[in-house]
Amino acid sequence: MKIKKICCIGAGYVGGPTMSVIADKCPDIQVEVVDLNEDRINQWNNEDFENLPIYEPGLAEIVKRCRGKNLHFSSLVREKIKTADIIFISVNTPTKKYGLGAGKASDLKWVERCAREVASYASGHTIVVEKSTLPVRTAEVIKTILQASTDSINSSSGIKTFDVLSNPEFLAEGSAVSDLLFPDRVLIGGENKKAIDALSNIYKKWVPEEKILHTNIWSSELAKLTSNAFLAQRISSINSISAICESTGADVREVSRAIGKDSRIGSKFLDSGPGFGGSCFKKDILNLVYLAKFYGLNEVADFWESVVNINAWHQSRISQLVIKNLFGTLAGKKIVILGFAFKANTNDTRESAAIQICKDLINEGAYLVINDPKVSPHQITNDLGMKQLSKISETESLNMYDGLGSWNYGENLDIEIFNDAYAILVLTEWPQYSSINWKEVAKKMIQPGWIFDSRSILDSEKVKNAELNFWRVGDGS
Ligand code: UDX
Ligand code: UDX
Repeated sequence: MKIKKICCIGAGYVGGPTMSVIADKCPDIQVEVVDLNEDRINQWNNEDFENLPIYEPGLAEIVKRCRGKNLHFSSLVREKIKTADIIFISVNTPTKKYGLGAGKASDLKWVERCAREVASYASGHTIVVEKSTLPVRTAEVIKTILQASTDSINSSSGIKTFDVLSNPEFLAEGSAVSDLLFPDRVLIGGENKKAIDALSNIYKKWVPEEKILHTNIWSSELAKLTSNAFLAQRISSINSISAICESTGADVREVSRAIGKDSRIGSKFLDSGPGFGGSCFKKDILNLVYLAKFYGLNEVADFWESVVNINAWHQSRISQLVIKNLFGTLAGKKIVILGFAFKANTNDTRESAAIQICKDLINEGAYLVINDPKVSPHQITNDLGMKQLSKISETESLNMYDGLGSWNYGENLDIEIFNDAYAILVLTEWPQYSSINWKEVAKKMIQPGWIFDSRSILDSEKVKNAELNFWRVGDGS
């Protein structure tokens, strides 16, 4: 099975960077990335490489090298399916909002639709690869749909055959390119050795062979969910310990460092923060919970659900302590929010802890000024479900206070942004926030001013020397 043409359905956070790296490493393969969303495709084809739809360090350079040569972005879904030797399904799989499994199970409508398109338009032998994270046994659904089409077509016209493989993606946002270039492992689940080898040969162009693992298809699907569940579990574990630290006088950074030295535990993913966000952790754990319940494993379901529950509790714990330290009321008080993305180095806000925390503060009547170097005001409006204040001045808005709070976009991180603020809350670990001059900031704030650092990125001595009150996550000292 020689691969000359790849088609990837879905030009999102996974499909875009993954296909760009494959194109860069395999100049003899034509890579076609297709998406129903024409705006997104236009953005990928943008003349200005700094304005691609996804911001990832190093990505623009790769797209610049390959686009128009062996990397193409278009909406010609059917046409590109037809000529592909291998098709990656990289469409989104959000949590179902209604019907059976609502709130937990993944909505597979897009995946099913892709499988039907592939079934109708593919020709000859095609390898279909599940790249999206999917519930265990989704490959069965895809196979059934593909099989139904081959049964009907092969009896009438030419031969059409398929192999289905699972090849989950482990890249993290913000480090997508380096995760793709130097993966800890590449996982390929499937049955047909020839198809597995064909996909492995693509990765072998830059990944050492011993890092390419072959498993059965269900293990591959489950390994992806389990991997995200374990990572999220570590964060919920350390965040739960942060609350104990604050109550007992311990310091969660010291606890993390001490336990991380144990090689059985390891030092990564032990940073306490405002609670995990991102498009995957919550969705994938809830998927696992749904799966466990489906098989009657209720205790297993409860165990994993508690990881999500602690995360929500931890976020509300942070909003509560802001309220408590500002004398139990935020009515008309200005609070500057530093960071809205779910982590640094991305413009993505999906499931960001900032969303719930900001909503809590607005519900308490606060006036938020939100700064983020990569997130647009339009995105924040969508996430908060609330337009920003317009036309009236800040002072007027505070005087007009009548219950629910409000917000504005604080585009520039200059000193004026802190004028008359009662508190500043760091929610994303953007490096520029660690070099703020707190002595200057203190002069602008209403006293007693509070700094809340949910990411532990500020120099506590500098903040305290500026005569500001300081809280940081898990610091009981
Ligand atoms: C990824 C994974 O694929 C998903 O399994 C994981 O759980 C979250 O991350 P991601 O790339 O982040 O998804 O999703 P997104 O950025 O929303 O991109 C998906 C793209 O697929 C969108 O651009 C959407 O327009 C496109 N799409 C969706 C299609 O082209 N066709 C469809 O039928 C459905
Ligand atoms: C995650 C997985 O890491 C990746 O393998 C998978 O393919 C997709 O899901 P991503 O969501 O992009 O990647 O980001 P990640 O770096 O894992 O961070 C997730 C969340 O956990 C962020 O909100 C981050 O701030 C938080 N986090 C991470 C912590 O609070 N503490 C840590 O120590 C690490």
